[in-house]
Amino acid sequence: MKVIEPRVEAFLRKTYQKNSRALEDLRATALKKHVPIIDRDVENFLKFTVVSHDVSRVLEIGSGVGYSALVFAQAMGKGLVVTVERHRRRYREAEANIAALKGAVDIKLLEGDAREILPALEGSFDLIFIDGGKSHYRIFFELALKRLSPGGMIVSDNVFFQGQVFPEASVPRRNRTSSRAMQEFLELVFKEPYHSVILPLGDGLLLTTLSKEER
Ligand SMILES: C[S@@+](CC[C@H](N)C(=O)[O-])C[C@H]1O[C@@H](n2cnc3c(N)ncnc32)[C@H](O)[C@@H]1O
Repeated sequence: MKVIEPRVEAFLRKTYQKNSRALEDLRATALKKHVPIIDRDVENFLKFTVVSHDVSRVLEIGSGVGYSALVFAQAMGKGLVVTVERHRRRYREAEANIAALKGAVDIKLLEGDAREILPALEGSFDLIFIDGGKSHYRIFFELALKRLSPGGMIVSDNVFFQGQVFPEASVPRRNRTSSRAMQEFLELVFKEPYHSVILPLGDGLLLTTLSKEER
């Protein structure tokens, strides 16, 4: 679901910094093959956040073909990106793309279900990006809270679920479980004393951080 007016979007996009040529090629190939990757406006926001918050450790749920992990890594310049992918074919593609394009940042690609992998991870992360299966955001979020560095941020992508979280939306039967799960997840997040905000970028980008007392 597009929430930015096309004229505004076109204007904004002229202001975005380009990625390396190789990363732009990967983006173009993914789009051509209909492989899901982060929206350009979301990408620009994430790059800004990484630099402005001096992020050096990123955890990502849902690597896809490795595009967003490489975006994080290029913006960070140094540090660590841990990214988890459960789909074997995607994992293999991500592995090849990361091997070909990675720079100084250590990118650890883990194969498996994030719900099983996250509890066993060591260390904490300044930014945790949730971009996995839409019906599991609540559990991803709860696991992410345990791995968040003090002052860190959880970023959950696609929380509008293509408009299917809105009360008046007509939701196809196959998406009803995910749409209900996303609605419940958002209700929960805004009920808790976290600091959360949804930015109308891409398909809805939820940002959450904890206050000093909650850490
Ligand atoms: C939207 S794509 C990720 C796109 C990637 N972040 C990017 O922008 O380049 C979502 C990915 O999450 C993976 N995924 C879904 N549920 C998962 C889970 N429970 N654990 C790990 N990966 C998961 C899917 O296989 C899919 O490849």
